[in-house]
Amino acid sequence: MTDHPPILPGAVLGLFGGGQLGRMFIQAAARLGYRVHLFAPDDDPPAAHLAWRHTRAEYDDRKAVESFARSVAGITCEFENVPAVAVAEAARHVPVSPQPHVLELAQDRIKEKAFLKKQGLPVAPYAEVRSSADAKRAAAELGTPVVFKSARGGYDGKGQQRVDDPADAPGAWAELAVAEAVAEAWVRFTAELSVIVARNTQGEVVTYGPMHNVHRNHILDYSLFPADLPTATQKQAEQLAATVAQAIGLVGLCCVEMFLTTTGELIINELAPRPHNSGHLTIEAHRTSQFEQQVRTLCNLPLGSPHPIAPAAAMANLLGDLWRDATHPPAWCEALADPDVVLHLYGKPAARPGRKMGHLTACADTAEQALARVLTIRDAWAAAPME
Ligand SMILES: Nc1ncnc2c1ncn2[C@@H]1O[C@H](COP(=O)(O)OP(=O)(O)O)[C@@H](O)[C@H]1O
Ligand SMILES: [Mg+2]
Repeated sequence: MTDHPPILPGAVLGLFGGGQLGRMFIQAAARLGYRVHLFAPDDDPPAAHLAWRHTRAEYDDRKAVESFARSVAGITCEFENVPAVAVAEAARHVPVSPQPHVLELAQDRIKEKAFLKKQGLPVAPYAEVRSSADAKRAAAELGTPVVFKSARGGYDGKGQQRVDDPADAPGAWAELAVAEAVAEAWVRFTAELSVIVARNTQGEVVTYGPMHNVHRNHILDYSLFPADLPTATQKQAEQLAATVAQAIGLVGLCCVEMFLTTTGELIINELAPRPHNSGHLTIEAHRTSQFEQQVRTLCNLPLGSPHPIAPAAAMANLLGDLWRDATHPPAWCEALADPDVVLHLYGKPAARPGRKMGHLTACADTAEQALARVLTIRDAWAAAPME
């Protein structure tokens, strides 16, 4: 059910998942006059603060999913790991974007990689691993370093083991403690990039980026737009993302994470069929944000213009590490007093190291200038004396 009549403003939209991505989806939906009914098992998740209704139930509670689906005009997801049972049940009643087959692909690295490879799209050399013997063979064939990634359920580097010595492969496999994994050749890259692509039922496609992403401890630290790359490489990255969206038949939003290798090739790392942390800067820097585009694709509305409305932008994540303790946040007024910086907070009550609590965005004439704006503030917070 992807080619459905437009779901017009005033309708109630359904959302699986209560994190910050869902919260920002609700902000975009609300601006267009929609109400959002949230389905999330958690108590008081960030999206629940803004949702019109919150069904608090488990994803395998079929009855709860059914009555949720019957109460909304269409459903989207804020994370790709919404259990298949919930998605399948929901799709029996209303349009679901991205579609169940897209989620299924993105939930399993083995399926995702096999699909991309079959389409002739560039991925790192990899092997499927289901046993210690597979792990050993993969390390021998792919060479080291090699990275073992759980087929299902990883994020922010969780569920991954890098191996530098082939002799360590069985140990790393055991450490993962999963039934299936992929072993992936280590890619030597000069930059990590991402392109966010939106595609509607008519097959129209728009892209954002590429963003240049810098990670720290496997978590996105900051993103820059535009990436400092030759125009041809930027175009190639956008084209690659558009090709992925077409090949999957996506209706919705997808982030295509890529490596730019030291030899100048683009390799697809992974797909995230939802808004992405690297796309947060589209709220300030682009005519239509990634979140509004998610609303539009779900509702079968015309896609919005993805054009930049600022020459450059930077986004820096605010992790719980910046809190003096769980309840003592950084001095927000330093950001609020800066006319070039926009502060986003997700309303999470307790800060923990590594937990994404908010982000800062700045627009400027160049990405370097924008980055300096956000990092000046964040660095000052990080250096604030502990009492
Ligand atoms: N094959 C690889 N070669 C080099 N670095 C990698 C490779 N795979 C992952 N990484 C690094 O680890 C990060 C997280 O891996 P990724 O596959 O994107 O998992 P997730 O984002 O789900 O945790 C990447 O952004 C990249 O920095
Ligand atoms: Mg990733």
